[in-house]
Amino acid sequence: MKKIVFLTGAGMSVESGFKTFRGSDGLWEDYPVEQVATHEALENDPALVINFYNRLRKKLFASQPNEGHKLISALEKDYDVTVITQNVDDLHERGGSSHVIHLHGELKKMCSSADAYNPDYIETLTEDNWEVIPGTKAKDGSMLRPFIVFFGEAVPMIEEAAREVSQADLFVIVGTSLNVYPAAGLVRYVPIGAPIYLIDPNEVTQGKKCDVTVIRKGATEGLQELFASIKP
Ligand code: APR
Repeated sequence: MKKIVFLTGAGMSVESGFKTFRGSDGLWEDYPVEQVATHEALENDPALVINFYNRLRKKLFASQPNEGHKLISALEKDYDVTVITQNVDDLHERGGSSHVIHLHGELKKMCSSADAYNPDYIETLTEDNWEVIPGTKAKDGSMLRPFIVFFGEAVPMIEEAAREVSQADLFVIVGTSLNVYPAAGLVRYVPIGAPIYLIDPNEVTQGKKCDVTVIRKGATEGLQELFASIKP
């Protein structure tokens, strides 16, 4: 089975009603990203940060995967598919994808602020229990924080992601401006000779150095076009 590896970003979830990070207004769901996605922000105003992710999580539970998510999972019939996503939503999973690597964390999860990756302290929230009261403690007594990789923090899943990319027969980038590293650097692990596609309705100026076939369309339309051309 040939291996297709996807790298997706905020544009993947636009058709499900989410905003991108670097849209024309420069805000992410109404906030400057540094106000809600840095460790300093969490320390200075934990309530603002916790409540921001509460709202986003509530919205996520009310949202649905779009056709693009479903098209990607449908490929599992004919290909070995890995999805590497920068998105913290679970729309790839709910769209049916079985192998999803989250580079930047997961909105549905909370963790210890002292020991973020200790599985004993990770809690998964549900549709009926989506809200975290600011100040709630994790099981180790530290503050419960969103299981989100903030700016300036390490990206532990990057090594597994790079391994996957290095085995790809085809690499497809969808809906990311390729501004944020290390995610944007994954393209360098694509084996020589494996085609690279980039689907985005706008011009992506980053990552220009690689030999990429650009499909300048939204996620669903672009994926339809690509899959029609690579039919097994
Ligand atoms: N379909 C596909 N792509 C789209 C669509 C669509 N319908 N609408 C917009 N896009 C594209 C935009 O043109 C842009 O190139 O999605 C891209 C989104 O880019 P960013 O907003 O920069 O988001 P992303 O690349 O995912 O950001 C990376 O930055 O703030 C951090 O951690 C956060 O994971 C995030 C990371």
